[in-house]
Amino acid sequence: MKKIVVIGSGAVGSTFAYTVLVKGLANELVIIDINKDKAEGDALDLNHGLLLAQPMKIYAGDYPDCEEADIIVITAGAAQKPGETRLDLMQRNVSIYRQILSEVLKYNKRAIFLIATNPVDILTYITIKLTNLPREQIIGSGTLLDSSRFRYLISEKIKVDPRNIHGLIIGEHGDTELPIWSLLNISGINQDQIVEESRFYLSDEDMEDIYENTKNAAYQIIEKKGATYYAIALSLAKICETILGDQKSIIPVSVYLDDYKGINDVCLGIPSVVGRNGIEMILDIPLSNEEEQKLINSGKKLREFINQIEL
Ligand code: LAC
Repeated sequence: MKKIVVIGSGAVGSTFAYTVLVKGLANELVIIDINKDKAEGDALDLNHGLLLAQPMKIYAGDYPDCEEADIIVITAGAAQKPGETRLDLMQRNVSIYRQILSEVLKYNKRAIFLIATNPVDILTYITIKLTNLPREQIIGSGTLLDSSRFRYLISEKIKVDPRNIHGLIIGEHGDTELPIWSLLNISGINQDQIVEESRFYLSDEDMEDIYENTKNAAYQIIEKKGATYYAIALSLAKICETILGDQKSIIPVSVYLDDYKGINDVCLGIPSVVGRNGIEMILDIPLSNEEEQKLINSGKKLREFINQIEL
């Protein structure tokens, strides 16, 4: 039995629900939203596609339906408006999480909690603190989406399948995220083995351009269409697939850090082994001095915001 509950049926939550159906990730999918009509409408719309997708029990529910869920995905909350940063959403979404988590905990303390609402690193942290559940049970979408954007932009530049481009964005899912150029490799060929004449070569300008477009991707999309939802929904589905299949994939999800390269008591996107019981291992990735300093700065930035929250 694979049961997923998604709390929040807005653009991200409903697109995630659709992705779960298309990929056949669960046997049961529950949609919870403060707007019950929206949840019921999405459930109806999805059920009308069952014949054309995968068998699944899909329904609009409420918090009691969290019982027995394997994964509870939380997408509810205010989303960025044009010009807003993810951190601007913090206070509004922390108070929404206080309400949601107090309800969910009445029915399920065993599920893996997958956090998507922004600022996702802070809401992952808040979920850990407010639920007091083992931290390996609480996962944020982290910088998986950023790493996917990063690999796409590199693939566009060097004309190689993104699946053969092993590149990582870590840190805040936001303005202080950082690329790990020192570990970038194209099917095992790393940067310092690539000569300037090679199709795989990236100049300093290319790297700056790729990083800026990765970091600013959400702003660009929000300016054009008001919100992002396809790639984040696919990111959430990938994490759910890895959990439910106990695949032990290494994914840069948002995890709680304690004395990690000197970083304490904050959640950041760090490559971690993800399996049926959540976070199995946080990788101690080798970073250049510059990369490590940027990661520390990313953690410091989030700590400044966390310190503004009355826990
Ligand atoms: C984005 C949202 C999910 O980066 O933060 O598209």
